[in-house]
Amino acid sequence: SQVAIVLGTRPEIIKFAPVIKACDRRGVDCLLVHTGQHYSEDLDQVFFDQLELPTPDYNLEVGSRSHGEQTGRMLEGIEDVLDEHAPDVVLVQGDTNSTLAGALAASKSNVDVGHVEAGLRSFDRDMPEEVNRVVTDHIADYLFPPTEETRSHLERESVAGEIVTTGNTIVDSLYEYRDLAAEKSDVLSDLGLQEDDFYLLTAHRAENVDDRESFARLLEGVSRFAAQTGREVVYPIHPRAQSRLDEFDLTLPEEIRTVEPLDFLDFLRLESAAALAFTDSGGVQEETCILGTPCVTLRYSTERPETAYVGANCLAGLDPDDVVEAGSTMLGKDADWDVPFGDGRAAERILDTLAAGVEPDAAEVSP
Ligand code: UD1
Ligand code: UDP
Repeated sequence: SQVAIVLGTRPEIIKFAPVIKACDRRGVDCLLVHTGQHYSEDLDQVFFDQLELPTPDYNLEVGSRSHGEQTGRMLEGIEDVLDEHAPDVVLVQGDTNSTLAGALAASKSNVDVGHVEAGLRSFDRDMPEEVNRVVTDHIADYLFPPTEETRSHLERESVAGEIVTTGNTIVDSLYEYRDLAAEKSDVLSDLGLQEDDFYLLTAHRAENVDDRESFARLLEGVSRFAAQTGREVVYPIHPRAQSRLDEFDLTLPEEIRTVEPLDFLDFLRLESAAALAFTDSGGVQEETCILGTPCVTLRYSTERPETAYVGANCLAGLDPDDVVEAGSTMLGKDADWDVPFGDGRAAERILDTLAAGVEPDAAEVSP
């Protein structure tokens, strides 16, 4: 039997790493298909190297294109791979165009689809990610929601596939790598930073950075809070955001320092050491919650509300006054919250479920 894994972006590489390793441990034949959605060394290869992942069996090298063209080329390429290999199941993760293409191609080739990190909903259909999630969930034969909340969305929508709550594989990844990051990473000294004396910023969402005024407001709120509290902001900048900064000719406030995208260990070290994180990333909302760093989310909706329920995250939007207020609320908060994303055995549960065929109830857990 063979499991095919379709991935294409930084977060998919990181969140699939525990599944790929679990396949290896169990001797499960794993066909790795990279769509090539991310291709820059620091969004792609660096994670394969650091997480010691095998080279993909296929790289479709689709690259950056409009949504339709990108997704369409992925569909064609994945279909060819599936025609040749006929795996038993295709696993996809998350909510990117690679996720959607993997699910759709498998479904049209009559191959079972498993969706890792199923059931997340921002309830904002203007986000391309929301549409990708909803469609993927309704195509999937196996759905692996990370939490009870996400499971309940799937039940409410009466999805056709079997649902097994697993926890999020990001917990598996962090449990494996956070100590290593503390031990091995020199990022604090390299960037001249002191623990708890700086803020971390990541922002790359299309709805935030593709609009000049939104991007400017986002930067203004974060820099104002930094100025008021006398700390600097480190912003490992996603290439999408960097190209918008250049295109819009926006001047960065002096409190904000951009650095190149970081590798996983350096990024985890920064996330752990920051006094506070400001972000519009999905993964960063989860990771800061797991690592015990308070987070302010620079969006009006989140598909990770569990982080806010436990007190680790505050949804601020983009208004600078709201961002400053949210920063004040979250700064110095005791990280005594419970982690709502499971126990770090999500990958094992996913493979248990696939191995058992459709017997999800036996493998079920409440993270
Ligand atoms: C994609 C996902 C988003 C996810 C993010 C993770 C979709 C619709 N979006 O957004 O959900 O949060 O990945 O990081 O699937 N670029 C490079 N090098 C690369 C890749 C992209 O320079 O390796 C630049 C290009 O200018 C490109 C832009 O980034 O046009 C956007 O890339 P794209 O893959 O379309 O979307 P992301 O913003 O990366
Ligand atoms: N990440 C990283 N280096 C960086 C920024 C992020 O390794 O400079 C990791 C981060 O630890 C998380 C993932 O990338 O696991 C989040 O990816 P991103 O924010 O691009 O996507 P999203 O989670 O929003 O889909």
